[in-house]
Amino acid sequence: MDAARRSSRPLVLLLLLGACGFFQSYAVEVDVKDDSNATCLYAKWMMRFVIKYETNSSDYKSTTLNLSSSVTHNGSVCGNDTQAALLAVQFGEGHSWSANFTKTNETYQEDFITFTYNTNDTAVFPDAKRKGPVTVVLRDNMHPVQLNDVFVCQSTEFLEAENVTQIFWNVTVQAFVQNGTIGKKESRCRADMPTSAPTVLPTTANATTASTTTLSPAPTATPKPVETPVTGNYSLKRGNDTCLLASVGLQLNVSQDKPLLININPKTTSADGACGNTTAMLKLNDGNSTLIAFTFAVKNISASAQKFYLKEVNVTLLNRLNGSVISHADNNNISQWDAFLGSSYMCNKEQTLEVNENLQINTFNLWIQPFRVTANTFSTAQECSLDDDSILIPVVVGAALAGLIAIIVVAYIIGRRKSYAGYQTL
Ligand SMILES: *[C@@H]1O[C@H](CO)[C@@H](O)[C@H](O)[C@H]1NC(C)=O
Ligand SMILES: *[C@@H]1O[C@H](CO)[C@@H](O)[C@H](O)[C@H]1NC(C)=O
Ligand SMILES: *[C@@H]1O[C@H](CO)[C@@H](O)[C@H](O)[C@H]1NC(C)=O
Ligand SMILES: *[C@@H]1O[C@H](CO)[C@@H](O)[C@H](O)[C@H]1NC(C)=O
Ligand SMILES: *[C@@H]1O[C@H](CO)[C@@H](O)[C@H](O)[C@H]1NC(C)=O
Ligand SMILES: *[C@@H]1O[C@H](CO)[C@@H](O)[C@H](O)[C@H]1NC(C)=O
Ligand SMILES: *[C@@H]1O[C@H](CO)[C@@H](O)[C@H](O)[C@H]1NC(C)=O
Ligand SMILES: *[C@@H]1O[C@H](CO)[C@@H](O)[C@H](O)[C@H]1NC(C)=O
Ligand SMILES: *[C@@H]1O[C@H](CO)[C@@H](O)[C@H](O)[C@H]1NC(C)=O
Repeated sequence: MDAARRSSRPLVLLLLLGACGFFQSYAVEVDVKDDSNATCLYAKWMMRFVIKYETNSSDYKSTTLNLSSSVTHNGSVCGNDTQAALLAVQFGEGHSWSANFTKTNETYQEDFITFTYNTNDTAVFPDAKRKGPVTVVLRDNMHPVQLNDVFVCQSTEFLEAENVTQIFWNVTVQAFVQNGTIGKKESRCRADMPTSAPTVLPTTANATTASTTTLSPAPTATPKPVETPVTGNYSLKRGNDTCLLASVGLQLNVSQDKPLLININPKTTSADGACGNTTAMLKLNDGNSTLIAFTFAVKNISASAQKFYLKEVNVTLLNRLNGSVISHADNNNISQWDAFLGSSYMCNKEQTLEVNENLQINTFNLWIQPFRVTANTFSTAQECSLDDDSILIPVVVGAALAGLIAIIVVAYIIGRRKSYAGYQTL
């Protein structure tokens, strides 16, 4: 009851316009006061969300939800020994985010994060199939922080659950503040500690290892070996019809001071581009930090035969926080992934595309058709030579032989039974 009264006290919320033109990111600062007008819960942080949603044409799109300038903080609660502290903000067209904190004698820690996004917000979800609020609740395993210490995490942290990636950075938070004074002693997240620094650019770099939770140390200090990327399904439409289909796992290999592997996360990647009769482009955007554009073209093989091929790839890596370009690589002289027009190209084995001397793209389970897609499905595939034909050829040859033998046997039987009918029965 005491806490309820406290929470109805005037709260102070400052909204600072971040200096980030590209993303329009805002820092939120919430200063919750208790009865005696003393700060009891303080937080300042930046966050963004990448949300994958189903569109009205039944495919999936990723969109980025940023904090808008209209943030309120209804429902924030100081908390005490028996009640959790609650940091709650509402923003934009019906979106909200909250985190509750629990306390022991010595420490406090974040407990659950609750995020609700509203697909009625047509600016963010222009073509959502299902309109209305969607709530994602997840338990956070932030390490316990000493009471009176302030938790600080400048590094970018990712929290993935269901179709949402929550991205946080420049976080300062203290719950159960004593005597209205923010602690002088900082408790840093592990990602901020120099000793553990794995070389990771502030891009989607650690998409695969990014399931570490917000405000919590990375599970291990040693970087995990990068796994094979998850295969993503991407498509483009012209009107109601699919005009380009791609299914591929993508991994960027960036050579800098230390080699860096970046797996493209299909969950946070959106596709757009353009279809055409002789050129087509597929542009992939992974969380506004990795942009890859594939350009396809058509070439004449003979008077009557045409093939499509991958002509150009360019890759732009952006700083996730402020959108500035980290690196850009372009190769407009590629001639790979070719197959006859009207068919699709498939390569299950790992293949490498040289974009330039510092950037390669490794592709896995590739299946692509940039032209003449009919009935929203892939046409017959032409497989790359890398795919194991030592198995395929015997299978194909074997099947053909078996078919031939069956035909001969049938023909023989029919021939014997109706010898007068001859070949006509066949
Ligand atoms: C709380 O303190 C602020 C300034 O520190 C003051 O402006 C405000 O009136 C105070 N509110 C109450 C309820 O005492
Ligand atoms: C809290 O929410 C109500 C509506 O739900 C709104 O009228 C009110 O202005 C909000 N208060 C603050 C402080 O945001
Ligand atoms: C924190 O919030 C979650 C989700 O709303 C809730 O289930 C949990 O009970 C809360 N924790 C406390 C200690 O109130
Ligand atoms: C999908 O939504 C968009 C935007 O509201 C609309 O223009 C389009 O007609 C819709 N398509 C279908 C198939 O409902
Ligand atoms: C809060 O104030 C009390 C009484 O003035 C004092 O004993 C205590 O040490 C203070 N705590 C902190 C964290 O400053
Ligand atoms: C991608 O497409 C393939 C075949 O079209 C399907 O088997 C697979 O489940 C799809 N994957 C996802 C994540 O939708
Ligand atoms: C990444 O590129 C470097 C230099 O080109 C190469 O030595 C290394 O094997 C590549 N790694 C992978 C996983 O492709
Ligand atoms: C990437 O390639 C596309 C297609 O060629 C081109 O339109 C675009 O300008 C390129 N982007 C950059 C940054 O060079
Ligand atoms: C973006 O951030 C990086 C690293 O923090 C910095 O080097 C770069 O100058 C920034 N760019 C802009 C446009 O602010």
